[in-house]
Amino acid sequence: MNRIELNTPLGRSLLLLGGEMKDIEPLLPASGLFVITDLNVRSLYGNIFPPGMVFTVEPGEQSKTLARSEELCKRLLEAGADRSSFILGFGGGVICDLAGLTASIYMRGVRHGFVSTSLLSQVDASTGGKTAVNLGDYKNIIGTFKQPEFVLCDHRMLSTLPEEELQSGLGELIKHAVIRDRNLFFDISASMEKVYERDPVILGDLIRRAVRIKASIVRRDPLESGPRRVLNFGHTFGHVLETYYRIPHGVAVTKGMLLAAELSVWTGEMPHSEMKMLEEVIEKTGMLPDLELPDNIIGMMSHDKKAEAGSLNMILLRSVGKAVVRRLPLNEIAAFVSFYRDGKEKNK
Ligand code: GLY
Repeated sequence: MNRIELNTPLGRSLLLLGGEMKDIEPLLPASGLFVITDLNVRSLYGNIFPPGMVFTVEPGEQSKTLARSEELCKRLLEAGADRSSFILGFGGGVICDLAGLTASIYMRGVRHGFVSTSLLSQVDASTGGKTAVNLGDYKNIIGTFKQPEFVLCDHRMLSTLPEEELQSGLGELIKHAVIRDRNLFFDISASMEKVYERDPVILGDLIRRAVRIKASIVRRDPLESGPRRVLNFGHTFGHVLETYYRIPHGVAVTKGMLLAAELSVWTGEMPHSEMKMLEEVIEKTGMLPDLELPDNIIGMMSHDKKAEAGSLNMILLRSVGKAVVRRLPLNEIAAFVSFYRDGKEKNK
């Protein structure tokens, strides 16, 4: 097992990569444990949940709402949870976001930790302390920062992941490589078959390297006021596509990464050859959705959290392995969108 300590002014998080349930036993309270999970995860792993009351929500993005968090708070209150209680989020990305938010607002905050069961959450959603729910069609508009005390990633749990969820996590895995680590990018490309076989050793190695990247960025900027923004690479376009087409988060981010890479070439930040290389590796994943950009894409992007006064902090690439933050006016992004659409028209 790999242990990574993520110390920030907001709290300390212990990341247990390649660990198993017995590793969190000493980290849990003797009583007052409340597990938040979803129906799918409960049916797979309910038999290994630690002793405590279990609250189950519907699987999927539709559970990422303030109403669901409020309902969980009510159930916690009815069940006698107090400020000494502990919330264990047991599941994938949605559960980490929902359980994390609920733990941060119930009685102004109670202790919490995660058992992370999907590739998306092991690579990304369980680490970093951001919690969030959606507001209508807008992603992650309501949220807080609260570091989980621990994150357990047992890579064997990935063996039960449906293909669509595996791909979604693969998108976030590739993102970490693309923003920071060219070697990791080539290694992911070379390991694609093993990833699809859900090989726990290969996945464990790739996840550990991605989480190290994330932890090093979050340590420097836990509140995302600067350098942490690079972790949003692919997300501004991705969130719009995710909401519009109702596709899995990581798949939308993957398409978003390609758009952001094209934007990087268009602005002169990155050579075209780098974009081709990124495209080739993403093609190997088998998830290159050919999606038309929604008509109102710029309007939708203007509600992104990264929008300020008519411009957006966009994450661009200088090369595969090096991301930069650039502030771009929305009208410049609109010009790029027209250019992109024209290119697609010509290639039809
Ligand atoms: N919880 C995900 C993050 O902090 O990035």
